[in-house]
Amino acid sequence: MPINLLLLLFTLVISTIFNASKALELGSTSISIPPAGPPISPAAMVPALFIIGDSSVDCGTNNYLGTFARADRLPYGRDFDSHQPTGRFSNGRIPVDYLALRLGLPFVPSYLGQKGNVKDMIQGVNYASAGAGIIFSSGSELGQHISLIQQIQQFTDTYQQFILSMGENITAHLISNSVFYLSIGINDYIHYYLPNVSDVQNLYLPWSFNQFLASNNLYNINVRKVVLMGMAPIGCAPHYLWKYGKNGECVEEINDMILEFNFVMRYMVEMLRQELPDSDIIFCDMYEGSMDIIQNHEHYGFDFTTDACCGLGKYKGWIMCISPEMACSNASNHIWWDQFHPTDAVNAILADNVWNGLHTKMCYPMNLEDMVATKL
Ligand SMILES: *[C@@H]1O[C@H](CO)[C@@H](O)[C@H](O)[C@H]1NC(C)=O
Ligand SMILES: *[C@@H]1O[C@H](CO)[C@@H](O)[C@H](O)[C@H]1NC(C)=O
Ligand SMILES: *[C@@H]1O[C@H](CO)[C@@H](O)[C@H](O)[C@H]1NC(C)=O
Repeated sequence: MPINLLLLLFTLVISTIFNASKALELGSTSISIPPAGPPISPAAMVPALFIIGDSSVDCGTNNYLGTFARADRLPYGRDFDSHQPTGRFSNGRIPVDYLALRLGLPFVPSYLGQKGNVKDMIQGVNYASAGAGIIFSSGSELGQHISLIQQIQQFTDTYQQFILSMGENITAHLISNSVFYLSIGINDYIHYYLPNVSDVQNLYLPWSFNQFLASNNLYNINVRKVVLMGMAPIGCAPHYLWKYGKNGECVEEINDMILEFNFVMRYMVEMLRQELPDSDIIFCDMYEGSMDIIQNHEHYGFDFTTDACCGLGKYKGWIMCISPEMACSNASNHIWWDQFHPTDAVNAILADNVWNGLHTKMCYPMNLEDMVATKL
């Protein structure tokens, strides 16, 4: 395997947006945290949940964009609380829905789906956009999306809006106690690495991009509690089984790449924890959690491990899910909802694992429940 340049790129980008030494160079605007807190709902364990990512956590961003990557029609959402499509790429809830409830928060609204009033955003905002990757153009053949850097910019705008409304101290307190959930990266692999490994060299960061990243340092704006999600084993997704699979076995070449990526991410999180002792960053390995489900599918009640519930072709992995007639009648015994995304039932299990490792340990060095209990 050639040196994985995408992996280097990722490590660079993710560590840059949290990098404390960069923050010092640029002149940190972080301030000491006063005892007086922001308004926080009595049921909630943290003030807010902010989400950045791709289709694994998009809850409606792409409904407002010109793109084929959208989930705003049935059968998407048919098993969601409202039984309506919302933009979530699943039959029901996505992991961050389950986690919001665990944290005592309402479902987090999408940034483009709300009116921009501080009161609608104060318990969190979801900036995630299907197709988004770390590289600007990842996923652009499907149409528009909001890239990682644009999502961070939107978060920075929200932060400024909070300051105007509540003042700097309360905002800093709110953000530093809130959970920041980052689930992105798979699209860079899907759109660049998988089609043609030899072109990846051309994607190196231009210097200006790097500068831009540094100026949007999340640590600088008091982000402290971070959940960094690893990549899921997409080598087992129906689309890749259809494209490359033999006898429904997961595509090992793809999964090896994911394993390598997750290994490095986990190591990077350990380094960041040492470098930023007043932060709390955890890494949750979607690969481990998902492989546990696939391998022990009978225990979890999944009869279908290779076939998506909705789609067309072998494993329903050929054509994307676009109409109710393409869907199975009951998704609860399926692992995969469509050619790339898991069902609500799987998302519930994964969220439980992120929360407290209920079924299998996925998060390092601790689970989300323990992270939010830690006072910084
Ligand atoms: C903000 O916090 C700092 C440090 O605790 C304090 O000196 C300052 O007076 C506070 N500002 C406001 C507007 O409360
Ligand atoms: C990848 O790129 C190489 C060299 O540019 C080319 O020969 C090959 O056909 C490409 N493969 C795909 C799948 O596009
Ligand atoms: C789907 O199947 C599960 C398990 O057999 C059952 O509990 C559930 O009610 C079914 N859902 C629908 C919509 O039929």
